[in-house]
Amino acid sequence: MSYNLLKGKRGIIFGALNDMSIAWKVAERAVEEGAIITLSNTPIAVRMGTTDELAKKLNATLIPADATSVTDLENVFSTSMEVLGGKIDFVLHSIGMSPNVRKKKAYDDLDYDLLSTTLDVSAVSFHKVLQVAKKMDAINEYGSVVALSYLAAQRTVAGYSDMADAKAVLESIARSFGYIYGKDKKVRVNTISQSPTVTTAGSGVKDLDGLLDYSERMSPLGNASAMDCADYCVVMFSDLTRKVTMQNLLHDGGFSSMTMSADVMHQYCKE
Ligand SMILES: NC(=O)c1ccc[n+]([C@@H]2O[C@H](COP(=O)([O-])OP(=O)(O)OC[C@H]3O[C@@H](n4cnc5c(N)ncnc54)[C@H](O)[C@@H]3O)[C@@H](O)[C@H]2O)c1
Repeated sequence: MSYNLLKGKRGIIFGALNDMSIAWKVAERAVEEGAIITLSNTPIAVRMGTTDELAKKLNATLIPADATSVTDLENVFSTSMEVLGGKIDFVLHSIGMSPNVRKKKAYDDLDYDLLSTTLDVSAVSFHKVLQVAKKMDAINEYGSVVALSYLAAQRTVAGYSDMADAKAVLESIARSFGYIYGKDKKVRVNTISQSPTVTTAGSGVKDLDGLLDYSERMSPLGNASAMDCADYCVVMFSDLTRKVTMQNLLHDGGFSSMTMSADVMHQYCKE
């Protein structure tokens, strides 16, 4: 169902790899709500993934870019403004990757070169997106930039490894840059802290099935799905949230306010 919340708005969506990606659902919902968008992902993801299918379906230009490259990001913003016909109203940063997690390096045996890559791809890229956009004056007043985070930024989740550090930095960037961007250009910057979700990146998390089951039982509303996250992003991109900035918004069915639920207690009292 469409409410035309993004009618006339122009957006850039980073990170749609396949139809499980959270960014994929956000792109579909944004267009359903009346936005016109461009899509961006790494050149390798564009070659290996199915982002081009989404681009065709949504009539969106697909701009390959490594989000750690300032030059690539400048091209994303200039091409997007050109093809969409004006300044941008919303941006989704849905980018995360840890080579330490991929190589199953334990947190007390991290490879520090790989840690730099984790931080650069998953957190510093957000700063680069914001800095490039601000220097190019590419985002309209009350435009909205959202990045996706996870609760492990604030509380320890076994096995999340150096991605927890990356998410902590990501959330801090939203506050630090949000202050400057808000003051200078009235642009909003927030992170949405999403429930565990079955996606390609999500599957890198150790014992994801167990984590999903636990958080489902712990959350009064159950886990938030990728579709639920897309709905929340649309609201955050819309004019209905014009005074929300510098926030880490918990989108987790209530999980983060729980310590024990009856459902989880029941699991431990079975015998
Ligand atoms: N899946 C979950 O459980 C979950 C929960 C909370 C937050 N998140 C976050 O949501 C975001 C999207 O992840 P997802 O779960 O949809 O998985 P996904 O694998 O579909 O998306 C991750 C994306 O990051 C892109 N990417 C990696 N390196 C890049 C680079 N250098 N430049 C540009 N793009 C790059 C990938 O190509 C991919 O499209 C991530 O930030 C992730 O940490 C995921």
